[in-house]
Amino acid sequence: MNLKGRHLIDPGDFSLLELESIFRLAEKIIENKDEYSQICKEKILGTLFYEPSTRTRLSFEAAMLRMGGKVLGFSDANVSSAAKGENIADTIRVLSAYADVVVIRHPKEGAPRLASKYSNIPVINGGDGGHQHPTQTLTDLLTIKKLKGSISGNTVGFCGDLKFGRTVHSLIKTLSRYPDNKFILVSPEELRLPDHLRHMLKNIAQVEIIETEDLETVIGSLDILYMTRIQKERFFNEADYVRLKDSYILTRNKLSEAKEDMLVMHPLPRVNEISYDVDEDDRAAYFKQAEFGVYARMALIAAQLGVGNNA
Ligand code: NCD
Repeated sequence: MNLKGRHLIDPGDFSLLELESIFRLAEKIIENKDEYSQICKEKILGTLFYEPSTRTRLSFEAAMLRMGGKVLGFSDANVSSAAKGENIADTIRVLSAYADVVVIRHPKEGAPRLASKYSNIPVINGGDGGHQHPTQTLTDLLTIKKLKGSISGNTVGFCGDLKFGRTVHSLIKTLSRYPDNKFILVSPEELRLPDHLRHMLKNIAQVEIIETEDLETVIGSLDILYMTRIQKERFFNEADYVRLKDSYILTRNKLSEAKEDMLVMHPLPRVNEISYDVDEDDRAAYFKQAEFGVYARMALIAAQLGVGNNA
């Protein structure tokens, strides 16, 4: 499997076998961290974050540092030359000379893809608008594989902002490529999954989807519940956000109806869609998920740089 030099803009850029090779490498790293602690010794990761992020950026930085590499970049477009009007094509051309691999988060959908056309180094999409978030998908799939045993054959509930949530868009598209997954989509009418994705799931992937506004009636049938934050920054008006922001709040009480081994996942940050009393429940997987995110990103970077044993 050769992922050396490849961009990751959309999870569909990698075949299932290529994804599998990343998970295998991530698992090897988890089992034997010391062996991988210097594999990026002479390498630099560039981080171009044009949109706020804590987890994704720090998780990438931790990934690179844990492999002995270095990191440079910015976490606020206002302090970069973007504020002077520099376009992303020029920025990436220059960065290609400074770093060996780059992660870009951008509010505009398609910006990382555009950047990849001008880049001499592998570009990773760290989230583009409401579009895609492929490294969160790697994180989510690794979490499912480790905690559920298989990425196939699960009934997965997605709950919350399915319209603007890019983590949902990337994950559902990718899960639909694995056999025997079923999806239950729980959202208010206004925040339903976009038409193009619903069409893809029904007509192209031909997977079963059920849509509902009511979490309680379906929670008992789920193997995985993927909760999401209502994406405030993507709303056009504050009143709509205020009306919809507390549509779903998962409490310990609601979990009593769920299977004993259901996983509660969340890409984080949580606002108040999962109450704190759920954190103590064995089914709460979101902090472990954040931890797996570092290993998934280590494996991705190592594979793109062609370092370490990623066969
Ligand atoms: C997600 C994102 O940025 O899309 N967070 C993340 O990557 N950890 C989810 C979110 O912001 O709600």
